Amino acid sequence: MKIMPNRMDRGFQMHQLDFENKALEVLRSGWYVLGKEVSKFEEEFAVYTGSKYCVGVANGLDALWMAFRILNIGKGDEVIVQGNTYIASVMGITMNGATPIFVEPDVYYNIDTSKIEEKITDKTKAILVVHLYGQASNMKGIMEIANKYNLKVVEDCAQSHGACFEGKMTGTFGDIGCFSFYPSKNLGAFGDAGAIVTNNPQIAEEFKVFRNYGSEKRYYNKVVGTNSRLDELQAGLLRVRLTHLDELTNERQKLCERYLERLNNPFIELPIIRESASTVWHQFVIKCKYRQELITYLEEKEIGTIIHYPIPPHLSEAYSYLGLQKGNLPITEAYAETVLSIPLYNGMTEEEQDFVIETINSFEV
Ligand SMILES: Cc1ncc(COP(=O)(O)O)c(C=O)c1O
Repeated sequence: MKIMPNRMDRGFQMHQLDFENKALEVLRSGWYVLGKEVSKFEEEFAVYTGSKYCVGVANGLDALWMAFRILNIGKGDEVIVQGNTYIASVMGITMNGATPIFVEPDVYYNIDTSKIEEKITDKTKAILVVHLYGQASNMKGIMEIANKYNLKVVEDCAQSHGACFEGKMTGTFGDIGCFSFYPSKNLGAFGDAGAIVTNNPQIAEEFKVFRNYGSEKRYYNKVVGTNSRLDELQAGLLRVRLTHLDELTNERQKLCERYLERLNNPFIELPIIRESASTVWHQFVIKCKYRQELITYLEEKEIGTIIHYPIPPHLSEAYSYLGLQKGNLPITEAYAETVLSIPLYNGMTEEEQDFVIETINSFEV
């Protein structure tokens, strides 16, 4: 039995007829960019997250860099972010010329709030919170610090659709919540797509203008904007999937509960969940000191895995200009050397999962 780390085709098959009908409806409508499907999706996703406004954009990275642009955070400013994130979080900061200031993660793979204050300077303008692997960060601690130092808060919810802290959904604590709907995300489109949520009407309005060449009215341009529009086809397909998101999350939850109950190998460490936080299990991430041996062993048994992420942003070539070195963020670096995402997807069968569990449990060094 060959098992891939992710199977997006299964997610499609689960609601195939609905997706196909919606795709045909949009194709036949004759309207393909910024139309009724986008407006409806924006309304529905705002309601889902408990936000006042949602604005669709082309992808998650655009949501992030536009967020900092609209908050007027750029050159000479510093933004605090956890060291162990996907590089897009950091690019969202640096595309506007701002400097990322990295903070070590906690045992839940999210920012360690006890280490934020020591990094605050008079240049600090914002905290970018990443709810990594689907688990909500400690928003109580983060909002207390942000309020104390008068910092903006942007949430990177690319992996956390529906995850909550103290019952409130990620994306709704700070000034702007940024979402990616890349196909592999929990709420995945069939191409690139993204959105922001906010309770601030001015921010929502600025996003609507900025994503469309800076024009409120066609051919009247208020600002130098960009083209980052969500298209009708993706919005329509996202609407279909959004109606199933809670059941899809429940299915992931059940699969991960099985993993937590049945995985039992002294060479691996299982993920843990913070009290007051929930996770939507974007990934099931284990830690293993003998990771390469484990990967090779699983490959031999035809089980695929992925490392999220092997090179932390501060050590990537793209950010060599920041002048950071190995040893600057020891916890982040240790995670990069030991984390491993094992197969998890909607539509995973019990048989497939049992095979993964048995195989991992039999791993020896
Ligand atoms: C944490 C995080 N931030 C940002 C992004 C960027 O989203 P996109 O690929 O839609 O640009 C992703 C996913 O790719 C992500 O996982």
